[in-house]
Amino acid sequence: MDDLHDIRNRFPGINDQWARFDGPAGTQVVDAAIEAAADWQRSGSNANSHGAFAAAGACDALVEETSTVMGRLLGADPAGMVFGPSTTANMMALTRAIGRGLEPGDEIICTTLDHDSNVWPWMLMAADAGAIVRMASFDSGNARLEVSAVTSLIGPATRWVAVTGASNAVGTIPDVTAITSAAHAADARVVVDGVHLTPHHAVDVTAMGCDVYTTSSYKWYGPHAGIMWVEPGLLDALEPYNVRPAPNHGPGRFQYGTPSWEALVGIRAAADFLLDVGLDAITAFEADRFARLLNGLHAIKGVRVVGPQDHANRAPTLMFEVAGCSPALVAQQLAESHIAVWNGHNYAVEAMAPLGLDIEAGAVRAGISMYTSDADVDRLLEAVADLVDSASAS
Ligand SMILES: Cc1ncc(COP(=O)(O)O)c(C=O)c1O
Repeated sequence: MDDLHDIRNRFPGINDQWARFDGPAGTQVVDAAIEAAADWQRSGSNANSHGAFAAAGACDALVEETSTVMGRLLGADPAGMVFGPSTTANMMALTRAIGRGLEPGDEIICTTLDHDSNVWPWMLMAADAGAIVRMASFDSGNARLEVSAVTSLIGPATRWVAVTGASNAVGTIPDVTAITSAAHAADARVVVDGVHLTPHHAVDVTAMGCDVYTTSSYKWYGPHAGIMWVEPGLLDALEPYNVRPAPNHGPGRFQYGTPSWEALVGIRAAADFLLDVGLDAITAFEADRFARLLNGLHAIKGVRVVGPQDHANRAPTLMFEVAGCSPALVAQQLAESHIAVWNGHNYAVEAMAPLGLDIEAGAVRAGISMYTSDADVDRLLEAVADLVDSASAS
């Protein structure tokens, strides 16, 4: 499918009055995922796993099918697919388990480009384990994380590297494949935060070579849930905290209690939808809307686009500032015109100062989703131009 102009009718949550640029914080849900969740809950299959009766078997089959489709979506072995409530919760569980195997003085590399869920859980765990977190800095000129910024920190004590697949603030995409191979050459493991990358670019975890890859289905038209792929050998080697009757093999080691079946059916449907449409088609479609947005913002005097000024190698997400208006005021004024954007740091806490932004105030963030139209982009550009005019008149 290469023409996505008609895809908007698959998203009942899109209200024509609103232009939605808040996809990086959560997208609208595709019809198939909404219906799958409702159908499941009506079906009588709601039960628990590993039982003697049919509904219990349906729960087991659901886990298997959802793992399989996620394996296809991510190019990863389905045997490593862990389902949890969110990526942050999954990262807390993962880092807790990793910390049990670290020695004082062991090192972890995090980056300033990352969402805090791939930074702070490591720092909390490191404080408990006596480990050291080293921060790899992105280039503040273009907001790109060079491979060398990470590899220059890798040394004999490095055990883990935690790096984002794409910045949720400014969209830049580091070369995680190169980072992974350098880390592996030094016997370190790699966690890739794929939350912002997965909705926008085809992912092949096997080619990437990382040990852990995280994603959240509510960023790609599915329900609120986090999926964490852990290389199956590593999955069994780690020592996650869990209750005694929990499985001691495979993804169940990292799953706390009964998974949300209604989320799993939604994940399966949303992942199937992405595979049907095709990530390459989504990338191409979003790139056009993104170019329109970026070029349009560049043309408005009084707007500063934060970070990279080009389209190359990034997810279709940007941050900008309007002269004379705080980011909070811009977001508020745009909301009055039924345009949804986020303001603030968007949890990319470490990235704000290098981007020249106040940590709390941050900037305005606008993201393109697969349902964003040219008309949405034009409305945003016109509203921002009006804001600049009224700020300079007052
Ligand atoms: C890049 C990135 N990583 C991690 C997260 C955290 O995801 P969750 O809300 O599922 O914990 C987000 C959420 O915005 C994100 O954008």
